[in-house]
Amino acid sequence: MSEMAGIPDRLPTRLTELLGIRWPLLLGGMMWLSDARLVAAMVRAGGMGFITARSSRTDEAFRQQLRDCRALTEGLPFGVNLTLSRRAAQNDVMLTRLRMALEEGVRIFETAGLPPTPLLPEIKAAGAVVVHKCAHVRHAVAAQNMGVDAVTLVGMEEGGHPGNNQLPTFLNGAYALERLQVPLALGGGIGHGRQIAAALALGADAVVMGSVFTSAVETPAHPAYKQRVVATDEHGTRAVLGSLGDTWRVIDNDNARKVAALEQAGASSYAAFGELISGERTQALAYHAGQHEEGMLSMGPAVGFARAIEPVASIVQRLQRECVQAGRQFQRLPLLA
Ligand SMILES: Cc1cc2nc3c(=O)[nH]c(=O)nc-3n(C[C@H](O)[C@H](O)[C@H](O)COP(=O)(O)O)c2cc1C
Repeated sequence: MSEMAGIPDRLPTRLTELLGIRWPLLLGGMMWLSDARLVAAMVRAGGMGFITARSSRTDEAFRQQLRDCRALTEGLPFGVNLTLSRRAAQNDVMLTRLRMALEEGVRIFETAGLPPTPLLPEIKAAGAVVVHKCAHVRHAVAAQNMGVDAVTLVGMEEGGHPGNNQLPTFLNGAYALERLQVPLALGGGIGHGRQIAAALALGADAVVMGSVFTSAVETPAHPAYKQRVVATDEHGTRAVLGSLGDTWRVIDNDNARKVAALEQAGASSYAAFGELISGERTQALAYHAGQHEEGMLSMGPAVGFARAIEPVASIVQRLQRECVQAGRQFQRLPLLA
């Protein structure tokens, strides 16, 4: 693909080289949403995406997702997200799906949720690349010591599960860069290209985004959900379930307010929140049927930059343009003299 209106075709970093992509832009796995079409759109736009292995209801449906993505990316590499759960019984399926992905030729994985210990031997034996995502610098260092190829560190602004970490993305990143030798992607709260330039200036090798892509045309969700995303500004998310040590940042909808009220009233187990925190219910009511006041809609304040329902390629081009512009401003500083 040729250079476009001042946007370089490639912005090489250690992570673009490791992942075989043109720009250091990663679309983190998004439960229920990161399917073949969305991931392929990100890959074709020059970045990397990860199909969420947990989102397929059956192994065969997952295999089909991988085949669809391979067809849509026309040979470009794409990734699979393997999110481990605190509920151990839910993790066998991740190993099964790792094996299926390897059989289907996938060689790039994003692990998250828990240390990738149960998955790492088979990923490494296959010669595949693993980027482990976590929210604490000490977990990032532990993953590095375990042999992962790269780390994604997210801050407390992250949409989804930033863990009990209280540090924002850029502070986390600055500390991590003192201790990591493997390539680092930074994520959480990033939705404007000037933040990408800033992350690269900080020393990161890539950024990871999620929230800003939730209103993309290719995202498999009801138009009413996407309109709700577009209408939500940077103040429209909240973190709940911190009391369980499992902070979840979501759109501040009716459902989240009910969860917050229960939490305030002292609810102290997953069971106490019942259906309100069920992923299946979120999928059925909000993503499928468009009832956006129902369900836990993972989202961070970068949602304020999701200002239209537009194709992934347009979002990526905007981010690239803004990043280049910010880079030019940076060059005016006499740092390089
Ligand atoms: C709707 C949604 C669902 C997500 N689901 C997952 C998931 O299943 N596994 C995971 O590792 N990360 C998940 N994430 C986190 C993203 O992969 C990514 O790290 C995050 O979105 C980056 O922060 P940002 O939302 O501020 O851009 C999710 C994020 C969103 C917005």
